[in-house]
Amino acid sequence: MRVAIIGTGYVGLVSGACFADFGHTVTCVDKDEGKIEKLKNGIMPIYEPGLDNLVASNVKEERLFFTTDAKEAIKNADAVFIAVGTPSRRGDGHADLSYVYGAAEEIAQLMDGFTVVVTKSTVPVGTGDEVEEIIRRTRPDADFAVVSNPEFLREGAAIKDFKIPDRVVVGTDDERAKQVMKELYRPLFLNETPILFTTRRTSELIKYAANAFLAVKITFINEMADLCEKVGANVQEVSRGIGLDGRIGAKFLNAGPGYGGSCFPKDTLALTKTANDYGSPVRIVDTVIEVNADRKKAMADKVIAAMGGDVSGKTIGVLGLAFKQNTDDMRDAPSLDIVPALQKAGARIVAFDPEAMKEASHLLKDVEFAGSAYAAVDGADAIVIITEWDQFRALDLNRIKTAMKGNVLVDLRNIYHPDDAAKHGFAYTSIGRPVS
Ligand code: UGA
Repeated sequence: MRVAIIGTGYVGLVSGACFADFGHTVTCVDKDEGKIEKLKNGIMPIYEPGLDNLVASNVKEERLFFTTDAKEAIKNADAVFIAVGTPSRRGDGHADLSYVYGAAEEIAQLMDGFTVVVTKSTVPVGTGDEVEEIIRRTRPDADFAVVSNPEFLREGAAIKDFKIPDRVVVGTDDERAKQVMKELYRPLFLNETPILFTTRRTSELIKYAANAFLAVKITFINEMADLCEKVGANVQEVSRGIGLDGRIGAKFLNAGPGYGGSCFPKDTLALTKTANDYGSPVRIVDTVIEVNADRKKAMADKVIAAMGGDVSGKTIGVLGLAFKQNTDDMRDAPSLDIVPALQKAGARIVAFDPEAMKEASHLLKDVEFAGSAYAAVDGADAIVIITEWDQFRALDLNRIKTAMKGNVLVDLRNIYHPDDAAKHGFAYTSIGRPVS
């Protein structure tokens, strides 16, 4: 199949590289000349494990192309994917669909022969109808179908999520479009991936429902963690105890500093806006948004309390700034709440993140960035682990303790064992676990 992908952001790029790896001929289109030039030279605009090699091998095999010229790519395509951004609209939190509609207009002008137009971007219910309307208005003679095919890719695990997904969701009533989508995802039939065909509106809602449900799950366990701290229980064991129940499931039950990233905060907000517009509020998600925002703010107080209530003039070594491991993404990262609050309380911050420091340097003021985890904690009064990078999981605790001035270790990801930390002489605080 010949595929064009509009937008070489995270979703477009990963989807394009993976479809090419399935054997399709894929052209990724972006208006940003600098980005396309870099991609042609093998330079990735984002950090995603394995993506550079996947792109390089498919470019070499001449299945993956990059261009700023949408014309050829769209004209020849059996399927055109819209994978542009849908940021929260300033002021009201609704998804900003101007890039999606702009792409629809451009596709309409350039398509040739039967073309399946697929929205991969996360778009509110009814957007597919509007895309169809725009194309029909722009090109009344066009032969096309508009399909919803949401992505369920986690940053940092996106290639695996694309190639070995739990499911693929395709929203369309059009038989020809169904055949094209089946052919595109045919390699997944081999490992019997469930492909759910449904209506376009249902498919659009599935995406928001999935992200919102996961956000609810995380927020639930975070509140359980708070309760565990009060009643002297262990949240990790609560997670395991409930997660073994197949009806609940073990995943996404890790308590932490609150969810962040480019998806959950934006998508939960957009879902509640849509729900309110239709007079059918999802109050549980309204509450989750509020609880999560409060939680991120409360984490700095937790650190200050662990340091005896006063951090002024103290040095805090921060390990991890990205919203989660294996990404350089800082969008809505808990560190963006925690670090400024600690600075405001008078602390000096020395931070290290394996990938996100460049991005963080644009967003955080007066932070000293260190070259390694060990350099970040040298002479520190306290350490705060904000992101669960693998390289922080087995640090040499003796070395760290010796290098530090103080002994406070605040582990917001529960990656150390309380007894082990205590054995090394740390005053250890974590999330929802009894203090040793
Ligand atoms: C999320 C979804 O997991 C993907 O399925 C979806 O496709 C994507 O959004 C999207 O809409 O594009 P992502 O934002 O990359 O993916 O990251 P997650 O791994 O879901 O983590 C989101 C946040 O939840 C992070 O801040 C993470 O630290 C937090 N989290 C996750 C927890 O605090 N506890 C958990 O148990 C799991």
